[in-house]
Formats: sequence, C-alpha cells, structure tokens
Amino acid sequence: MSLPAPTRRLAALLALLAVRAPAFAHDGHDHHPPKPVPEPEAHRPSALPDRIIRTFAADPARSIAVTWRTDDGVSKAVAQIAPADAGPGFAARAKTLDARTVPLKSDLGNAHYHSVVFGDLVPSMIYAYRVGDGVNWSEWVHARTASDKAEPFSFIYFGDAQNDVKSLWSRVIRGAYSDAPKAAFIVHAGDLINRANRDAEWGDWFRAGGWLNAMVPSLATPGNHEYERPVVNTAPTGTPVEKGTPATLKAEVSRHWRPQFALPEHGPAGLEETVYYVDYQGTRVVSLNSNERQEEQVPWLEKVLTDNPNRWTVLTFHHPIYSAAGERDNPKLRDLWQPIFDRYKVDLVLQGHDHTYARSGLRAYDNVATGINRRDDGGGTVYVVSVSGPKMYENKRMPWMVRSAEDTQLYQIITIDGDTLKYEARTAVGDLYDGFDLKKREGKPNELVERVPDTPERHRAPAAPAVGASR
Ligand SMILES: [Fe+2]
Repeated sequence: MSLPAPTRRLAALLALLAVRAPAFAHDGHDHHPPKPVPEPEAHRPSALPDRIIRTFAADPARSIAVTWRTDDGVSKAVAQIAPADAGPGFAARAKTLDARTVPLKSDLGNAHYHSVVFGDLVPSMIYAYRVGDGVNWSEWVHARTASDKAEPFSFIYFGDAQNDVKSLWSRVIRGAYSDAPKAAFIVHAGDLINRANRDAEWGDWFRAGGWLNAMVPSLATPGNHEYERPVVNTAPTGTPVEKGTPATLKAEVSRHWRPQFALPEHGPAGLEETVYYVDYQGTRVVSLNSNERQEEQVPWLEKVLTDNPNRWTVLTFHHPIYSAAGERDNPKLRDLWQPIFDRYKVDLVLQGHDHTYARSGLRAYDNVATGINRRDDGGGTVYVVSVSGPKMYENKRMPWMVRSAEDTQLYQIITIDGDTLKYEARTAVGDLYDGFDLKKREGKPNELVERVPDTPERHRAPAAPAVGASR
C-alpha cells in the first residue's frame, strides 16, 4: 500500500531525526554526560525557609533562638511558638513574633536571614515552633527548654568538619544524633567549613545536619577557616581590590557568621557571637575566639569564671594549646590562657584545628615545665583535640597524649550528671574509641578515671603518605 506524499515526507523526516539524534541510543535513554548543577541553582534561596538552626542567645531555660534563610523577597518574616501537645490543636494557641531580618550578599547572590529569640518561656517544657512569612511556613519543630536547675544532660562535640561536608561529614553528625538523640546541644569547635565566605559550603553544612539543626541547639566557635581577609569591589573597572595594604589587612569572621547564628552578644566589643558563655543545667560552656585579640579576652574570661555559680566549666576554642602535631604547637596561647584555666579550675577544653585526635590527662600549667613533652596527672584540666570531617593530618604521639588517633572521623558524647562528667569519643561508625570520667571531689582536684577501650590505637603505618597536606 502506498502512502500519500505528505505522509511519506513526514515518515522520512522522522526517520532522519531518529538517525541524527545522538542523545538517544537504542535503549531509548539519554546519554548526554551529566553536568554539575550550578552552585547558584543548587543553593538558591526561596520564599520557603531553609537553613533553619536553633542556638542559644540567652538563658536556655527561658528562651529559644532560631535563625533561617529566605530569598530577599521576604522582608517581613515571622515565627510562632506554642507549648507542644500530643494533639494537633496546639497550633491554634501559638504566639506570633516578628523576626529581625538582615540582608546578606554572598558570592552566589542575595538572601535574607531572619532571627527570633522566643522569651519568657517555662523551664523544662517542650515547645513547638515554626518560621516563615505568614504564608510559606516551615514544619512545626519541637524544642525543649533547659531546666533551671543542675540536672543531668548530654551534649555532642565535633572537631573540624571543614571539607567534603555534605558527602563525608553528614554521616558523622547523623551518627552522633542517632547515638544521642536527646543531646541538649552540639559544640562545633571551629572550621565548620573550608572557605569562610563560600555560600555553597555553608549550604552543604546546613544540608549535612538537615532538620536536626532546627531541633538541637548549636554552639559554634570560629576557626581560622571562618576567617578571611575582606575583599571589596571599589575599583572603577570593577576589579576586586582589597581594603588597605596587605601588610595591614586583617582577616574578618565570615560575613555569614552573625546573620546565620543567633548566639549571645555579651562578649568583648567586636567579638560578639564568637566569645560568649551559656549556662546549661549546672554547667558553664564558654566559647573563646582563638583567631584574634586573644589578650583582650583574658579580662572577660576572668570575670566570667570568677562569677560562675556552676559546678562544671567546659571551654571551647579552635587552635589547641596542646597541639597534636609538633610544628603546630602553640606556646604563646598556652602561656596566655592556661594559667587562667588553672586558677578557675576549668574541667574540660574542647579544641580542633589539628585534623587528628589527641586527649590529655589532667594538665596544669605549673606542672608542665617541658610543655608538650610529658604527661602529668597531678590535677588540672583535660584537653581534647578532635576532627569530625575527612581531612587528616599526622599525629606526633607525644607523651602528654593518653589516647590518640590518625585518619579517623570522630564525634564525642559528653554526659554531666551531678559530680560526674562522662566523656566518650566514638568513630564515624559508632565504635567507642576513647573514654574517661571526671569526678568532682570536695576541696581536691578532679579525679580522672580512665575508660579507654581495649582496642589498638588507629595510627598510620610509618611510611604512609599524608592525606590532605595543606592547612
Ligand atoms: Fe583550623
């Protein structure tokens, strides 16, 4: 049967297209090579709240702080809160608060960051909150206020996440949360990301934690990778030029830091939200900023530790005063800060930066005449250096280290219950790697009870090449 001419022509055209269409093979599938989704698209804000994160900005027993991001079309953001209830009707009893909105121009474009501090809350109560613009809302998120008394609690601590945060750090934060789902908060000891002002890296950091960031409060201290020398676009040609001369140029904390974390603002002027403390159920947690103006933090720290009614004191900052790598030792900061830690009997110091694991016994400045080269358990503070992300350095295995590791992603769960602080370091796959108890004794230094598991230390073979050698 012969087809009419127009139909024959159409059939011939379709046959030609079928032959010339290289994207489709015989199996009918598209064989174009995959292309990366451009960063502005992958991390673009919208009217829907994202990067929702709970922090402490004031008394954890009576307030809840939350920050989130939208596109810059959302100029009036709001948040609602109600005591949570088993029935869904709690939402009808919610109070609405206006958020504080700040614009942020990142390397990928404009966004608005919004924050609220819900106040006048009842201690030890589960609330539900949501954030949005009145039309586009987040889910209702449960958030428990702290007790206003010294009661048992656990928290999570992470050394540097920094690199491949979405692909390889996500398993650590999710594993830690699975192990300690009732954790009161998460301490991030700096270098959360690698390049201070890369929006895509912050986007990956928020995606790694996902919804648990909205539930479990974060306490973050900045690392050197949260600092960058400012670049401003003032040249007539549009060429970026730096402020000042390179010799006088000073690195500044990421411009994302303050808009995206609502942290206490009672630190020394200019160091707000990087130097602060929070009192949580009988423990004072202090963040120092080891990146800049270390001397100015001394009188502030002395005041905070003098006027401290809490039984326990935990400090966090990024650069370790006892380094796990010999050439990165930090005697200047040790000389400046450790005598204060000793005088006010700081119990535990949580640090990062060295991309390896090392944990001390009880160390006091007066007993450490040779610095890093001996172990002394006469009394003092326990120092920890840890890493949660995948970048790994060599560990020098110095005498002060009770337990150390290389090439191991770790998280810590720390539980404080009355006179006992229980510390556990776990690997990315959940195995117990290190442990100890600290016990308070009346009129005496803390007792350190070792609970190191009977497993070999994880160290490289002597000739193994370093992974990720750049700082
Ligand atoms: Fe660092």
